[in-house]
Amino acid sequence: MRIAELRARERYDDILLRTLSQQLSVWHGEPFSVANRGHGQAWLEHRIFSAYVTAEATREVRRFLADQVRHTSNRLRRLPQFIIGTAAATRLGIRAASSSKLFVSPHIPNANHLAILPGNRRIRFFDLAKQCSRVVMKDGFSSDAIDAELRVRGSGHNGPFPPILDMDQAAGWFTEPLVSGRVLARIPSRTAARSYRDLALRQLTAWAAPGRLFWSYEQWWAENTVAKALLGESMDAVNALIGHEPKVEVQPSHGDFQPGNILVQPSESRVWLLDWEFYGIRSTHYDGLVLLTGLRWPGQAAASIEDALLGRLLVPSLQSLSLQQRKRAVVMALIEDITLRLRGWDGTLEGASPPEIPYLIALIRSVIERGQT
Ligand SMILES: Nc1ncnc2c1ncn2[C@@H]1O[C@H](COP(=O)(O)OP(=O)(O)O)[C@@H](O)[C@H]1O
Ligand SMILES: [Mg+2]
Repeated sequence: MRIAELRARERYDDILLRTLSQQLSVWHGEPFSVANRGHGQAWLEHRIFSAYVTAEATREVRRFLADQVRHTSNRLRRLPQFIIGTAAATRLGIRAASSSKLFVSPHIPNANHLAILPGNRRIRFFDLAKQCSRVVMKDGFSSDAIDAELRVRGSGHNGPFPPILDMDQAAGWFTEPLVSGRVLARIPSRTAARSYRDLALRQLTAWAAPGRLFWSYEQWWAENTVAKALLGESMDAVNALIGHEPKVEVQPSHGDFQPGNILVQPSESRVWLLDWEFYGIRSTHYDGLVLLTGLRWPGQAAASIEDALLGRLLVPSLQSLSLQQRKRAVVMALIEDITLRLRGWDGTLEGASPPEIPYLIALIRSVIERGQT
């Protein structure tokens, strides 16, 4: 999420200053103060990269930021983004596209090797010298976003994800190695992107398979009670569609399985799954549907969901199912998505509910009503 969007959504600057002061103090074992005026080590807020760096950021830091913008799968934007990303990451570009926003004292050691990227619920410090990333909770946000990562990727756990190197759950941080590569959303070749996407899904499915189990229908609903309240008068139709099988097969789920969270390492022909903050137990179809129908953007997913129902879009887990069973699988995934969005929607955020909810409800209704007339 871009800094401008975060500013529009929450008391961004207060949260940032508080989080950085606290987390730097924890990190370095002495009190840090971070303010938006005054003296101290100056950090620039870069408008194009939506990140904080010092004016003396090293070439590696600048290249890292440039690569977050330079590549895109959108053909028309490829050239302009390449030019802008490259120009914005020169020393001159850094100064021209940013303003001094943070003043830190004492000085953060090795600051020129660092970039700070604020996110939805967390803030990342990328250390290009040590090749690791430190992820910290935003102050006042639920600790879910870190707890979930530690449950999946904590010590002794192996899977298609970078390992957690070090952590302190109570203090709200963990570190992980930097993986060189590019997220799937920025892979220019469509054919290559498709094959990495399928590889990512196969890896996630293989990792989740040993954790498969059956929940009773009631147990599944107990996990989704928040969504139930929103379905209102559609509940009877929902129950009629999904309630006639007594059990629901569930498995460990990534939860935010979209191209921005799949990191591709072309040199090794492998993929890494990032960002497990929405990890949970969900129906076996959920992650595959999110990835393949683009359900992270439900306002644009209607056509691909229809394709998935009809088998025009190949969703591996739906392959052997009847149309009725596919409708059930899709509706359950949509309900799980409502639950997930509400969980990610922190009490600290102003505004009544996540903007995607009306689209998800409309999709549920349209799947239910499909073929009824
Ligand atoms: N271990 C890593 N190595 C390299 N890049 C990473 C790593 N983790 C995250 N990134 C980059 O940072 C971006 C944001 O990380 P993510 O965990 O998805 O945070 P957010 O909660 O802000 O979505 C990713 O899309 C990826 O480009
Ligand atoms: Mg992410």
